Amino acid sequence: MKEEYLVEMKNINKNFGAVKALKGVDFIVKKREVVGLLGDNGAGKSTLIKILCGVLKADSGEIFFNNKELSISSPYQAREKGIETVHQELSLVNTMTIARNMFLGKEPIRKVGFFSFLDKETMNREARKVIGDVGIKVRSPDEYVSILSGGERQAIAIGRAMYFDAKLLILDEPLRALSVKEQKNVLDHVNQVRDQGISVIFISHNVYHAYSVTDRFVLLNKGEKQGEILKEDSTPEEIAEFVSSGEKLSKIV
Ligand SMILES: Nc1ncnc2c1ncn2[C@@H]1O[C@H](COP(=O)(O)OP(=O)(O)O)[C@@H](O)[C@H]1O
Ligand SMILES: [Mg+2]
Repeated sequence: MKEEYLVEMKNINKNFGAVKALKGVDFIVKKREVVGLLGDNGAGKSTLIKILCGVLKADSGEIFFNNKELSISSPYQAREKGIETVHQELSLVNTMTIARNMFLGKEPIRKVGFFSFLDKETMNREARKVIGDVGIKVRSPDEYVSILSGGERQAIAIGRAMYFDAKLLILDEPLRALSVKEQKNVLDHVNQVRDQGISVIFISHNVYHAYSVTDRFVLLNKGEKQGEILKEDSTPEEIAEFVSSGEKLSKIV
């Protein structure tokens, strides 16, 4: 049922010089679904989602979002459409405050006569709410992002997606380099996001990281789709085995 689809990527190809990063990949995300995008390092996971969120352009292929052709050429345009991405190399700007990071590209403006100002008061007030919602103990929205831990940065980026009512949240290796406690917090936030009706793409090279929050797994191997697995049909051990074998699976959607 096409109406259930939020994202439909068809026959996506991408080369970096001689490297074939993606070879005819089809990828679907349904509404209110958490998809685990799995594969070894270099499988093409980040490339696929960078194409979806406007960081990279595919060499060929089609992308539909909410059943309409998606033609975007920047991450800013993706955010306008409701696609929020937390990249592997985190998408917060270290040299800006937490409040500025939250409103990056969507800054509230206050007009006084002919002049426009950044509405810092609103940014600080709203950022304080988001910090509270995601339950992190940062002292003030005026602090710089550079002082935050990996887990706190993830939480702020996820909180931002919820605040702006995103339709799709993309998390690229969100648990990488986090402590066990921080990992648990991020997984709790993913559940919060899903409860709000937002679809999630959870990228990982480790099925155990994604297993508890994911509904369906899509496996990539060396730039090709290896197959799809519904969580209810498989144990994490079986999925890990498929990932390491690289064998093609019959398709389940
Ligand atoms: N900007 C780039 N320039 C050249 N090669 C790249 C670039 N980005 C990714 N690649 C290559 O494309 C392949 C897929 O990379 P990537 O999508 O980052 O994989 P994954 O996220 O699954 O680890 C790898 O071989 C990687 O080296
Ligand atoms: Mg990657």
